Amino acid sequence: MMEFVHVAVAVLGLLSLGHSAPVTSCENLIQPLEIYRSQLLGKWVLQGESTSIPGSKILVQMVMENTWVKITAASEADTFNNLQIQKTMGKCFTRKTNMTLVNNTLTVELPFQNSAVLLNTGCPDCLVIFANNTVGRTTVKDLQLLSRRTKVSAAELEEFTKQAECLNLQPPAIMDLEKGLCPDPSLTPETNFTDVTTHTISSDELSLLEELLSSEDGVKTLFDMIQRSMASVKQD
Ligand SMILES: *[C@@H]1O[C@H](CO)[C@@H](O)[C@H](O)[C@H]1NC(C)=O
Ligand SMILES: *[C@@H]1O[C@H](CO)[C@@H](O)[C@H](O)[C@H]1NC(C)=O
Ligand SMILES: *[C@@H]1O[C@H](CO)[C@@H](O)[C@H](O)[C@H]1NC(C)=O
Ligand SMILES: *[C@@H]1O[C@H](CO)[C@@H](O)[C@H](O)[C@H]1NC(C)=O
Repeated sequence: MMEFVHVAVAVLGLLSLGHSAPVTSCENLIQPLEIYRSQLLGKWVLQGESTSIPGSKILVQMVMENTWVKITAASEADTFNNLQIQKTMGKCFTRKTNMTLVNNTLTVELPFQNSAVLLNTGCPDCLVIFANNTVGRTTVKDLQLLSRRTKVSAAELEEFTKQAECLNLQPPAIMDLEKGLCPDPSLTPETNFTDVTTHTISSDELSLLEELLSSEDGVKTLFDMIQRSMASVKQD
C-alpha cells in the first residue's frame, strides 16, 4: 500500500512537471482552452486580477485582502453554484452566483452580465479566466488567476502579468494571501459574514466608478467612500 502511494505521488509529480512548462508567447497565452465541467468544481483561491480600468489595481490592493470561491454542481446539467468569500478590510463577505457553461463559455447573469472563457496557462493547478462584464452599455474586461494552492509561485505570477499585458489590460493587483482567507461559512457558523448576493451595480454607478478610477483624486474619494461604508458593516 505504502509503495503504491509513493509511486502514485511520483507519477503525479511527473505529470505536473510535464504541465508546468512555461507558456511564454502572447499567441500561446491568449489561447482559449476547452472547459471541462469537472475541472471547475471545488475550492479556488484568487491570486491576482487585472481589468481594463486604470486605477483598479490601486483600489483592489487598498481594499481587498483576498478572495476564494467554492464551485459546486447545481442540479441542472452545466449549471454551477458559486460561493465567493471575500476578505475586505478585515471583514468577511459572501456572494452567491449561478453560473452556466454553454458553448465553452461561462456565463453569470447577476450582479451583472459576465461572460468568460478559460485561457492557457503554464500553472498546473490554475484557472485563468478572461471575462467581459457588461453593465448597460459599458463593458469591463477582467482577467483572473485562480489556483488550488493558497499561493502560487513568483514565476506563475509573472506569467499572469505577461498575459494581462498581451491582452492590453492594466498590471494585475496581487492578492494579499499572508492575511489569511476567511473560513468556509458552512463550517464556521460562529464567524460573522455579510452576504452581498443581492447588492447590484447600476450602469450609472459603473460610469461613476470608471470616472473615479481614472484619476488619483478619484481613487482617494472612492477609498474614503468605501472606508465610510465599511465602518457601518457590523460584524463584531
Ligand atoms: C440561482 O438559481 C436558483 C434556482 O433557479 C435561484 O433560486 C437563486 O435565486 C439563484 N441565485 C442567484 C444568486 O441568482
Ligand atoms: C452555441 O453554438 C451553437 C452553434 O455555434 C449556436 O447555434 C447556439 O446558438 C449557441 N448557443 C448559445 C447559448 O450561445
Ligand atoms: C468579449 O467581447 C468581445 C468584444 O465584444 C468579444 O469579441 C469576445 O468574444 C467576448 N468574450 C467573451 C468571453 O464573451
Ligand atoms: C458576531 O457578531 C455578534 C453580534 O454582533 C457578536 O456578539 C459576536 O461576538 C461576533 N462573532 C465573531 C466571531 O466576531
